[in-house]
Amino acid sequence: MSNRMWGGRFASGPAEIMEEINASIGFDKRLAPQDIRGSLAHVAMLGTSGVLPAADVDAITAGLKSVQAEIEAGTFAFRRELEDIHMNVESRLTEIVGPAAGRLHTARSRNDQVATDMKLWVRDTLDGLDAQAAALQQALAEKALRHAGTVMPGFTHLQSAQPVTFGHHMMAYVEMLGRDRGRFRDARARLNECPLGAAALAGTGFPIDRHATAAALGFDRPTANSLDSVADRDFALEALSAASICAVHLSRFAEELVVWTSAQFGFVRLSDGYTTGSSIMPQKRNPDAAELVRAKAGRIVGALTGLLIVMKGLPLAYSKDMQEDKEGTFDALQALSLCLAAMTGMVRDLEPVAETLAKAAGSGYATATDLADWLVRELNLPFREAHHVTGRLVGAASAKGVGLEALSLEEMQAAEPRITDAVYAVLGVENSVASRISYGGTAPGNVRAQAERWLAQLSGGEG
Ligand code: ARG
Repeated sequence: MSNRMWGGRFASGPAEIMEEINASIGFDKRLAPQDIRGSLAHVAMLGTSGVLPAADVDAITAGLKSVQAEIEAGTFAFRRELEDIHMNVESRLTEIVGPAAGRLHTARSRNDQVATDMKLWVRDTLDGLDAQAAALQQALAEKALRHAGTVMPGFTHLQSAQPVTFGHHMMAYVEMLGRDRGRFRDARARLNECPLGAAALAGTGFPIDRHATAAALGFDRPTANSLDSVADRDFALEALSAASICAVHLSRFAEELVVWTSAQFGFVRLSDGYTTGSSIMPQKRNPDAAELVRAKAGRIVGALTGLLIVMKGLPLAYSKDMQEDKEGTFDALQALSLCLAAMTGMVRDLEPVAETLAKAAGSGYATATDLADWLVRELNLPFREAHHVTGRLVGAASAKGVGLEALSLEEMQAAEPRITDAVYAVLGVENSVASRISYGGTAPGNVRAQAERWLAQLSGGEG
């Protein structure tokens, strides 16, 4: 049998493989709510514009609501031979309403329909990701407030560099997530133009009111060029770009959790809820959730790359290639949502191991910069010279296998005779972090102020 939606000029139906490669219903059925919402707005507008009589509008509206109810109840029979969600809905509508259902597709095409559906889905999903990222920021800022003064090593090149606080490290991710959320919101603002009514590619001769459908669907305005309306997938690409950057942030944090929970580091403890045991090694507590968050960046960045390559070189306007936008976009944004939820749970539960962190913070001559700064401040040495003096002292301490604070004053003075015993005050890790009071620095007071600023912003809903 030829396709009953477009089969007029076809004598026979598609080959089995044609049907398989062509069908998208397996994955676009999730657009059913958006599709019906779009159709309800479209038919209402056809009525007010005088394109359809009220009787048809009422019948179609009631029919669409029945279809929606069937889909929600799980009783709707999706059929692959009907290709996609648009034709599945319309076909069932025809069964319910009769021939009047055929008038719904006046002044539109599946091309503007699918663009509208996808935009609605991406828009909702971006809103959800924004809220989830805010919840993660909240968990991080709360943890930071509690550990504003908990010292830990700060790293560059993964070598101990200078002591920082655990709270400061958490707040770094709050900043990253703040930018991620900005990108979600930017993407949302730019996508918020309605393609419906662009029809197949050229617009329509019917006296439709695209401003009315745009407003009914919560868009700021209709799109201004019909070719662009049906050919544009920037909104999915932007959402995937923003999602990719966010996934990369989460992946970096996940990597830190994996390293920090190892027996060799022992910096933090994850809860039982976010670790798994080994079936053979009873001592193990594996950070599987963190590992999977780290890994899922792969499929999210992969979806972005995949869609960029699908779109590259496509001539205007719509091509069936664009049907390939869906699986990757659905999968990637859903994966990011899962990662955000898992990260939030891990952060709420995790506990830093303060003693281990403090010990590690003091090792590796992490306060060498404080010593150099002291020489500059107190003895007025040029920083470069102070750097050399400090280097000699680190060498002396390392030859003895001790920390800088264990060198005697005589040993200090051998490197620079004007050093006094006041120097010991800056060598402790606590002193080091307390001194970093420059704006954005790791001093506990700064960290507390930043955490409080974010928490106020997040609870005010402006975050
Ligand atoms: N399932 C299609 C898609 O996702 C809908 C649009 C089909 N348009 C067409 N002219 N065949 O892109």
